[in-house]
Amino acid sequence: MYGTRLFDRPKHAEVKRSLLAFVGRPGPLGLEIGFDHGMCVLDRARSFPTFNQLGVELRQARVEAAAANAPDNCLLLRMDGRTLVTALLPDASIDWLYILFPTPPTSPKRALLTPAFAGSVHRVLRPGGCLWFATDRPELAALIDELFPWPTAAAPPPLGGQLSRRERVCRRDEITVSRRCLARPVPTVT
Ligand SMILES: C[S@@+](CC[C@H](N)C(=O)[O-])C[C@H]1O[C@@H](n2cnc3c(N)ncnc32)[C@H](O)[C@@H]1O
Repeated sequence: MYGTRLFDRPKHAEVKRSLLAFVGRPGPLGLEIGFDHGMCVLDRARSFPTFNQLGVELRQARVEAAAANAPDNCLLLRMDGRTLVTALLPDASIDWLYILFPTPPTSPKRALLTPAFAGSVHRVLRPGGCLWFATDRPELAALIDELFPWPTAAAPPPLGGQLSRRERVCRRDEITVSRRCLARPVPTVT
């Protein structure tokens, strides 16, 4: 599913190794799925040097351009976010997940926001960790509420000063943006 077996092949095994080494670094870890030009993830990495920032994006040229400017605490990879959360990240390895203006799916095969994805996010986000989400598509806001019936987080995750490309467009064109700041529930011990 989503090329999850790819990373068992020798050609891609090195990517998996460096990913897991990065995830194992000391300090909290943020993940941004679909970082596009990388303005936000790079800005967070520079603004919070003791935190680590991981980003994945499908478009190769975007990844190469952004990765060339990434500081040590930031790893940017060309990878499907679904592959990452489904097959590669260890349990409870992420402190903050950022999904900013995800692409509205053109077919079920391309959809990011699915029950399977939500289940994987539940696995990789640490209990109490935060999902930070923004969209200008009402149907995607409704979908997030359905997939993540989580309480609003007590505090937002670390945010830099940069706006994403789509956020700028929404601001310029006065398009309404829906936001969510949700906390993965902490399991109750019985
Ligand atoms: C609508 S753009 C928004 C980009 C940026 N986050 C913003 O707010 O301007 C969505 C981005 O997500 C990327 N993307 C879509 N599906 C993805 C997936 N499954 N994994 C990683 N990136 C994905 C696209 O290539 C695109 O750059």
